[in-house]
Amino acid sequence: MNQEKVIVIDFGGQYNQLVARRVRECNVYCEIYSYRTPIEQIKAMNPKGIILTGGPNSCYEEGAPSYTKELFELGVPVLGLCYGAQLMQHILGGRVERADVQEYGKTPVTVNTASPLFAQVPEETICWMSHFDYISKLAPGFVSIAHTKDCPVAAAEYKEKKLFGIQFHPEVLHTPEGTSMLFNFVRGICGCSGNWRMDSFVETQIREIREKVGSGKVLLALSGGVDSSVLAALLAKAIGKQLTCVFVDHGLLRKNEGDEVEAIFGKKGNFDINFVRVNAQDRYYIRLAGEAEPERKRKIIGEEFIRVFEEEAKKIGKVDFLAQGTIYPDVVESGLGGESVVIKSHHNVGGLPEYVDFKEIIEPLRNLFKDEVRKAGLELGLPEFLVFRQPFPGPGLGIRIIGDITAEKVRMVQDSDYIYRQEIERAAAEYKKEHGTTAPWMPDQYFAALTNMRSVGVMGDERTYDYAVAVRAVRTIDFMTAEAADIPFEVLQTVMNRIIKEVRGVNRVFYDLTSKPPGTIEME
Ligand code: XMP
Repeated sequence: MNQEKVIVIDFGGQYNQLVARRVRECNVYCEIYSYRTPIEQIKAMNPKGIILTGGPNSCYEEGAPSYTKELFELGVPVLGLCYGAQLMQHILGGRVERADVQEYGKTPVTVNTASPLFAQVPEETICWMSHFDYISKLAPGFVSIAHTKDCPVAAAEYKEKKLFGIQFHPEVLHTPEGTSMLFNFVRGICGCSGNWRMDSFVETQIREIREKVGSGKVLLALSGGVDSSVLAALLAKAIGKQLTCVFVDHGLLRKNEGDEVEAIFGKKGNFDINFVRVNAQDRYYIRLAGEAEPERKRKIIGEEFIRVFEEEAKKIGKVDFLAQGTIYPDVVESGLGGESVVIKSHHNVGGLPEYVDFKEIIEPLRNLFKDEVRKAGLELGLPEFLVFRQPFPGPGLGIRIIGDITAEKVRMVQDSDYIYRQEIERAAAEYKKEHGTTAPWMPDQYFAALTNMRSVGVMGDERTYDYAVAVRAVRTIDFMTAEAADIPFEVLQTVMNRIIKEVRGVNRVFYDLTSKPPGTIEME
């Protein structure tokens, strides 16, 4: 892709992917590279601008991540953020020291609006600070362009050389003018035209896929999740019948989900591809019978998927390409791109099948963030309910049924979950209609799970001894931490009433209040 590009050099900070996303929101394409990437490689990419991220270290400590001074002599605009700003000063002859007052959180800041970095930004605004060190002396040529009560250099510039530093984090939402500042840098100072758009991405990809695949055959494991569905739609547009999608229904999907996927991608759908649905429910239930240990369950579900997929692939015979829905955060998190530490690795059903006969893997979405994948999906005509689906784990309801799995329990959790989602969505739509905005309690992920607990109840005049369902709803930005959402009590009551009335075998409903950490979002 011959695309204007900004490069983010990663020093290990927690918001680094956010920096890249914000830049792309300015319609400027951007990629993340580790600070270990040699300068020659950076130069060869011909960047229009470079951003140095935050990081957990102190730049004056021995062994702290650094970069060659040459970076600042390329004539390419550089913006340092937090650690990046300090490092720029440290390398160019300024001084960075431990601060007496460590600023953390929302902080009022005064900015010099004559600086191109702060064009259109009000003189008094709020910024998100998070640092132990501060810039005590500026490097030659630099002037301070922002300050807070405790920080004389909250931002600095060397205008002639187009070098800028910001001590705070413009990339987080707590800095309300942050996006304007990044916009000023990439569009104003770097002069990017802003031609990165999803429609052009889709067009370019279609062309490139056609060139690469030629008349070859492509195989894709379609899960019905956002990434694999968008990939299926993209490949369908590019190569039509040369694509075969194998969709394994493992019997651990949400209610009606298998049929929904088939309605979109199957014979009666809008795409002219080969679609194979494998109904493997019974096979999974047999393999999972009596297995209660969460990791064992995950492993069996994953292994069985590979087996089913391989069997189907054998029927299809040799294919030229195996398509995978890898997206940019997967690439960065696996350590191929940036520096951030992998906190938890999740497995989608699958992994790489060993015995599928293919020449090469293609990953057309590997440069996109999740929100961009969604935009591409809409661009390709996929329905909104699919494109904006909640995250759903690869092992599916298998990890939302505590203990062993049976078809009966799957039915209970599917039906309860369906009611719960219906009621949340109904209440959210009502709120929006009434107030014109999204409900403040609207969760980012919500689902029902089946506890392995049975308890006594009374229904009519009868004693019952049935299962308890737990409903969960969390608010989260990155799924690494989460809090229980403040769902209105009357919504929960309706959910409870409906579940107990409509779902046979359930006589109790709990609301899960646990945050992450210490809990995880899923139960297993
Ligand atoms: P946890 O339970 O780790 O979940 O707090 C965090 C997010 O990841 C999803 N999740 C998974 N996604 N394969 C996936 O693709 C998995 O094995 C898996 N386990 C959890 C979970 O739904 C939540 O959004």
